Amino acid sequence: MCGIVGYVGMQDVTDVLIDGLQHLEYRGYDSAGIAVFEEGEIRVVKSRGRLTDLIQRMEEEGKPSGTCGIGHTRWATHGEPSDVNSHPHGNESISIVHNGIIENYMAVKAFLEEKGYVFESQTDTETIAKLLDYYYTGDPLKAIRSVLAKIHGSYALGIIFRDFPGKIFATRKDSPLIVGVGKGENFIASDVPAILKYTRDYYLLEQDEIAELTADSVTITDVNGDILSKELMTADWDMEAAEKGGYPHFMIKEINEQPTAIVNTISPRIEDGVPHFHLPNLPDDTFGRFKSVQIVACGTAMHAGMIGKYLIERMARLPVNVEIASEFRYRDLLLDKDDLVIVISQSGETADSLAALRAAKEVGAHTLAVVNVVGSSIAREADDVIYTYAGLEISVASTKAYTVQVAVMYLLAIKFALARGRMTEQESAEFCRTLFDISKSMEAMLKDTHECQYYASKFQNAHSLFFIGRGLDYALSLEGSLKLKEISYIHSEAYAAGELKHGTISLISQDVPVIAVATQTRIYEKTISNVKEVRARGAKVLLICKQDAVVDPEVADYILRIPVYDDIFMPLMTIVPLQLFAYYTTILRGCDVDKPRNLAKSVTVE
Ligand code: F6R
Repeated sequence: MCGIVGYVGMQDVTDVLIDGLQHLEYRGYDSAGIAVFEEGEIRVVKSRGRLTDLIQRMEEEGKPSGTCGIGHTRWATHGEPSDVNSHPHGNESISIVHNGIIENYMAVKAFLEEKGYVFESQTDTETIAKLLDYYYTGDPLKAIRSVLAKIHGSYALGIIFRDFPGKIFATRKDSPLIVGVGKGENFIASDVPAILKYTRDYYLLEQDEIAELTADSVTITDVNGDILSKELMTADWDMEAAEKGGYPHFMIKEINEQPTAIVNTISPRIEDGVPHFHLPNLPDDTFGRFKSVQIVACGTAMHAGMIGKYLIERMARLPVNVEIASEFRYRDLLLDKDDLVIVISQSGETADSLAALRAAKEVGAHTLAVVNVVGSSIAREADDVIYTYAGLEISVASTKAYTVQVAVMYLLAIKFALARGRMTEQESAEFCRTLFDISKSMEAMLKDTHECQYYASKFQNAHSLFFIGRGLDYALSLEGSLKLKEISYIHSEAYAAGELKHGTISLISQDVPVIAVATQTRIYEKTISNVKEVRARGAKVLLICKQDAVVDPEVADYILRIPVYDDIFMPLMTIVPLQLFAYYTTILRGCDVDKPRNLAKSVTVE
């Protein structure tokens, strides 16, 4: 995730910016840069790679000297990690740093190209810089407001104008930004750790408010230009807590980031209610050409693929096979150019998934990567790539990366359904609206986690536990079970509910509880029959079902009810309590949530 820091005061600005950016390194980045007022001019230094690469470049080119400037660490979204794509962007008179995603940047770019602007980078940020230049006629606030009226998406912006040395402008929408207040110095930052060394006092910028900073003053105005009087906040976190945004662990922070991650991932792809991916080798009108889809991935990413299978088969009536990458890579593949192979990977570096991708390419299948890390090996080698915009995931147990992979599966399912005449554009628009609505319901759900904490306390001492479900609920059970076992170390298995009686039910006893996921109305009664079977063997049961499900109180010991959506959307809602259950169980057992034993975030060995 990108990081922003800005400083105006008496200290050496380059030192303060680099120090601030160092404290944002934990967010992940692949390039960095600063823009500093030096003798009345804006001087920009930026570099692909780590902050050490930027420092080295400054040693070569001369360290910028001044007392006012902005800095940025970039986590690539639009365009590869490279010098030219690094922030700041702009020209000799305007320089900006940006966090977030501009959804309509293609349209804005086309508008500016028509006016004669030439673009150097592949970023969405450069369109904001050029749009600012287009609107700027000597009044920064006016220009910023004109830009805000034209762009859609999420943004936190730090801006400097050559005409206004010693001044920083900042604004935000759906991407955090704070204004740090010191004595004779002021700051902007995307996150508290960047400024904690210098001040604990800050203003929280709200949507589309604009801050104007000098060394001695901070003025914040609303969209109409009215000056606001805002409450000064005080950060009482230590550095570690600040990095986790005040949450005790990265995992719970990332669980809470899911609604935003979903919106960031889907909204740039939906145009007039229809998903568009703008893939160079897979144009929108060619999605109808495949005779089958093969999804390949590992672990959690494979579980997202399982959801994808159910969605695509149900919505587009296109056969989908899902396979673990370590198996797929050594199989005799019966695929050709009429088959689409989708490789899903958060890191884009998982050795088995990369090998599977190469194997698929070798037999001539078209390969599409769904990847979170821009410029990663899988992203580079696939014929096409759809990036998920989850931002950096630090917790080893994947949560938000999974959810956005699932979100992409929904968009792909719609795309195939449209291409195969199984859905109208009107239905697609309705479907997409529901996805946005779900992100809001998810946000509401995350506000009250007491119920999940309570159930975690009831199951924390289990030695072994089963998750059961059918269809989409089975796919979810696989992920719920993996989440629980990998961090709490409770042995757990996910089973297709109807399969238990073919042997495994002999393991069920009063010491082996069962979590039954039953959100699919069509097969609800079938799953309930399986729940009765395990209950009859003494298992303690937690039933997860829709809010409006009719449940015989005898069926389960505990019932967790989820807000109601059409069956097909339920995975996006149901995953949240499953993640929370794993998280709170782990806390109660005193295990290391973010760094479970024996595991690494990225598995680059076979
Ligand atoms: C579990 C988890 C792993 C990964 C798997 C694939 O929480 O994170 O199961 O999903 O190792 O990793 P990526 O998605 O990076 O290919």
